[in-house]
Amino acid sequence: MMEQDRFLEVLDGFSRVRLAVIGDFFLDQYLVIDPALAETSLETGLEAHQVVAIRHSPGAAGTVTSNLAALQVGAIHAVGAIGDDGHGYELRQDLQRCGVALGHLLVLDDIFTPTYTKPMVIQPDGGEVEASRLDLRNRRPLSEAVLDRVMAGLETLLPEVDGVIIADQVAEPNLGVITDTVRERLADLAAAHPQVLFFADSRAHIGDFRQVIIKPNRREAALCLGVEDEAEAGTEALGGMGQELARRNGRPVFITLGPEGMLACDAESATHVPGISVEGPTDIVGAGDSATAGTVLALCAGANLADSALFGNLVASITVQQIGATGTASPSQVLQRYLDTFGAGA
Ligand SMILES: Nc1ncnc2c1ncn2[C@@H]1O[C@H](COP(=O)(O)OP(=O)(O)OP(=O)(O)O)[C@@H](O)[C@H]1O
Ligand SMILES: [Mg+2]
Repeated sequence: MMEQDRFLEVLDGFSRVRLAVIGDFFLDQYLVIDPALAETSLETGLEAHQVVAIRHSPGAAGTVTSNLAALQVGAIHAVGAIGDDGHGYELRQDLQRCGVALGHLLVLDDIFTPTYTKPMVIQPDGGEVEASRLDLRNRRPLSEAVLDRVMAGLETLLPEVDGVIIADQVAEPNLGVITDTVRERLADLAAAHPQVLFFADSRAHIGDFRQVIIKPNRREAALCLGVEDEAEAGTEALGGMGQELARRNGRPVFITLGPEGMLACDAESATHVPGISVEGPTDIVGAGDSATAGTVLALCAGANLADSALFGNLVASITVQQIGATGTASPSQVLQRYLDTFGAGA
């Protein structure tokens, strides 16, 4: 448990933290369809779905920046590459609206802005049900020249940031911004700039990072060490794996455990920081990204590993309660959740 004075000090420090987020910036787009207005196409005889509203928000690396913005971080820089297309325009608008600096988010005319389009069909009770998604992503690797420009952008920012979050979303090898060579270059940069905190999350390649803090979930951590069936591994065994990974990486490791919270590990020890239990329905989409935002802000504001994991757990416990949205949390919500959990006398 963290003392209240210390908790407030760290939370207050969030607004002085400056971060870069490098990786895959996506657009999440929702097309709201009213089935009562459906028409039949004269040309094809097929049903023409009638879109009555469009919502959009940043996804993947953009989910992390939205969470950082809601937590009132001091500064955020987006680093990556998107397309010179309509989706890219909307994505940049959304990012700009939450204060993300876009000077190092390249806009290229030969790639797509990766976009998940979700048709949302209005139901008789007024709710919405998601129909099958349309995915737009890049099927060819970015050129080395583009990746050089992305990395040069990150290097320019290093003197002015406290931390770098690596958001490696694309599962297919080398089809996103974080390619094998970029991972190597990030390891070199992290080793050469120990004053900057590097923190990676990756959907499919977390075991390929070196010299940076990593945040695998239970299954990803086990896979890093070649363990196929992590269900066998209890919290203690996972802690051992976290320590082994921390030794291999030369940096701490946070293993997320869903509702059970996190294991904060370094080479010498593993501390279980229990999750914050919440009532009612939960929606875990984006839980990992909000945990990242809370944990990294706390680390950069000077908290130790276990206290930073607590911040990650608190932020994620708020966003999992936001159903049908990835969700975000504000500093006052985080404080309230801390007080509700540990008591006002904490
Ligand atoms: N049901 C829950 N109640 C409270 N907190 C939760 C719950 N589920 C997840 N969390 C919080 O979210 C964090 C991340 O969850 P999880 O371990 O499921 O990550 P993940 O598998 O990487 O998720 P993602 O699918 O977003 O990548 C946990 O460490 C915990 O703090
Ligand atoms: Mg995850």
